[in-house]
This record gives sequence, C-alpha cells and structure tokens, in this order.
Amino acid sequence: MKRRQLLGGLGVALLSPFSGSSLGQYVLPPGQVRLVFNENPYGPSPRAIAAVNDVVALSAYYPDSPTDFPILDDLTKAIAQRHGLASENLLVSSGSNEALQAAILAYGDKGKILVPGLTYDAHLHYAKQLGIDIISVPLRSDLQIDLDAMSAIVDDTVSLVYLANPNNPTGLPIDTTALRQFCRRVGKRTLVIVDEAYNELATSPSDQSMVDLVRDNQNVLITRTFSKIFGMAGMRVGYALGQPETIAKVSNTLMAWPNGIGLTAAYHSYLDEEFIAFSRQKILEGRAMVNATLQRSGVTPVPSQTNFVFADIGIESTEFVARMADRNVLIRGGYAGYPTHIRISMGKLEDLNIFDRVFSEVYAASR
Ligand SMILES: Cc1ncc(COP(=O)(O)O)c(C=O)c1O
Repeated sequence: MKRRQLLGGLGVALLSPFSGSSLGQYVLPPGQVRLVFNENPYGPSPRAIAAVNDVVALSAYYPDSPTDFPILDDLTKAIAQRHGLASENLLVSSGSNEALQAAILAYGDKGKILVPGLTYDAHLHYAKQLGIDIISVPLRSDLQIDLDAMSAIVDDTVSLVYLANPNNPTGLPIDTTALRQFCRRVGKRTLVIVDEAYNELATSPSDQSMVDLVRDNQNVLITRTFSKIFGMAGMRVGYALGQPETIAKVSNTLMAWPNGIGLTAAYHSYLDEEFIAFSRQKILEGRAMVNATLQRSGVTPVPSQTNFVFADIGIESTEFVARMADRNVLIRGGYAGYPTHIRISMGKLEDLNIFDRVFSEVYAASR
C-alpha cells in the first residue's frame, strides 16, 4: 500500500496558520494590517491544505524517494507538461529566490550582473556577498526598464542579466515584443533571467511569459513561484525553466533539499484551477480598491499588473510609512532614488478597507 493511502485514514489535524490559534498570533500580531511583503493571504488553496494534512506525519522521511514519496516527480511533470517542456527543462527550488541565488552562484564567476535600477533585490545582496559586481541601469522616466540601455552595455564580462516581468516594486510589465527581442539578442552573449514571480497576475499571463523562448532553445532562465498567486510564501517552493544544460548547472548550486510539505501543497495548488481563479479575482478586486483609495487622496497609482501598487505620494516616504505603522498598517517606502514612493501589497479586502481609512487620515495629516 502506498504511504499516501495509508496516511489518508489517520486524520492528522493541521491548524490553518491564520485560524486564530496562538501560531496565527505569532505570524500576524492581532490587529496588524500587513501590506508589506507581497504575500497573498487568500492562500494556500483548500486542496493544498487538505493534501498537507494527509502527508504531514510522513515528515520523518526525506521526500525524494521515487517509490514512497514521488511528489517532486509529480510536481516536476505537472509543471513541465503544462509548459510543453521536458522534466530536464525544470528545477524546483526553495522559493524562486533560491533558484535566483543558485543561478548567481553558478554563473557569477564569469563577471558582473546587469540589473534594472529599481527591482527585486534579495538575491542581489547574495551576489554582493559573493563579491560579484552589480551594474544597475536606471529606469526610464516612465518607470519602465530601459532595455536599450541594458542591451548597449552587455559584453563578454557580463555573467547574466536579471529582469523581473512584471517588475517589483513598480508592478509594470515589460513590453512583450521588446523583451522577446532583447532575450533573443542578448541571450547570444549571456544568460538572461526573466523572473516571472507575478506572471499569473498579469493581464495576459501566457502571452506575456517568455517560456516560449525556452521551447525555442534560447539562452533564458525563467523563474516562477508558489509564493504569490498560490499564496504559499511560508512553504518556500519555486521553480525555474531553461535549457537542460542551464538547469543542470543551476541545480548543482542549489542548497536546500526538497521540502515534502511544500512540494505536496505546490502540486495540489497547481491543479486547483478553482482556487487560482478565486485568488486572482480577489487580488484584482483588492488592487482596484487600493487604486481608488490613492486616487481619492489625489495620488496617481502606477498601473500594476501584480499584487502590489506603487505610487508617488509627493512626500518623504520613510516618515509616512512609520506613521502608517504607528496605526498598525504596514506598507513599504524608502526606495533608493525614489524617496517619495510607497508600495502597498494586497491584503484581504477587509484589511484594505482599514488601509483606506488609515491612509486617507494619515495622508491628509501629513501634507
Ligand atoms: C520579483 C520577485 N522575485 C522573486 C521573489 C521571491 O519569492 P519566493 O522566493 O518566495 O519565490 C519575490 C518576492 O517578493 C519577488 O518580488
């Protein structure tokens, strides 16, 4: 009998982390509205939670035995199949951040890394620790990534180019045609990483994705995550798609071993179409609410295609963010080069109602 079947009958109790248990209070202090890390509080999917419930008691065992616990294989095949790729085109990592760091470790010895002037940067701190130079190319005045300027400085001393599409913290997608041309041209000289953490929230996810370039044997590495639309940030599962030799090279530098609970939840979330549609709809609804809140105060939001909104509030953001935090509403500010911009992540709609009230009051009092 398979372990999965055996455990199905045990009825292992698992508390939802947000069920009001003491663990819930540990993760989220009571009354706090947390709109700061681009999480998705509508996850994980109910099917993922139920599946985890079935396997959590198996956590005594390493989750990569192909006969007893083939979940990594199941997940890899499900993702590869959906993208029309082979399992050799894919690696699963501990959050997409691990795949990004592993790529930096695998390729960084060749030379510097080219990135947009304002973008997601947790993995870039890791590159700095490794002593790799980061060349940061300023955004255009419309906050778009300047692909022409980046392309112009790619030479043989660049080990890789990193782009996020849509970008964080702006929420803006990159023009699809221009990005596709960039990847084809620049990929001839160096690896191009396209971080698609927020792809499922874009207006037209499959058209805006660069995964077709993997199918067309181009030198790109696409990263994706279960932290955003799937609402599983705490379970740390992401993946990367690329040419088999790129995947093999990056896999060699991964550090974490597969996490069985996370893989199980990821697999079942991936197949839970109903949850994915629900999650997207709630996030888009929330985004419209946040846009309306900002506009009512005379602030123009950047048109986001993600689960966060970036906006220039015209006053110094660090102080403003601290005043919001005093009212128990956490948002982000203090972006280098963008001292008057804030970023608001989507929370549950009830939290966004609190944001609406607190933002309007604090903003009116700050001007
Ligand atoms: C653009 C982007 N990439 C990657 C990540 C990392 O996500 P994770 O490691 O949870 O997959 C984030 C997290 O906010 C992000 O904004």
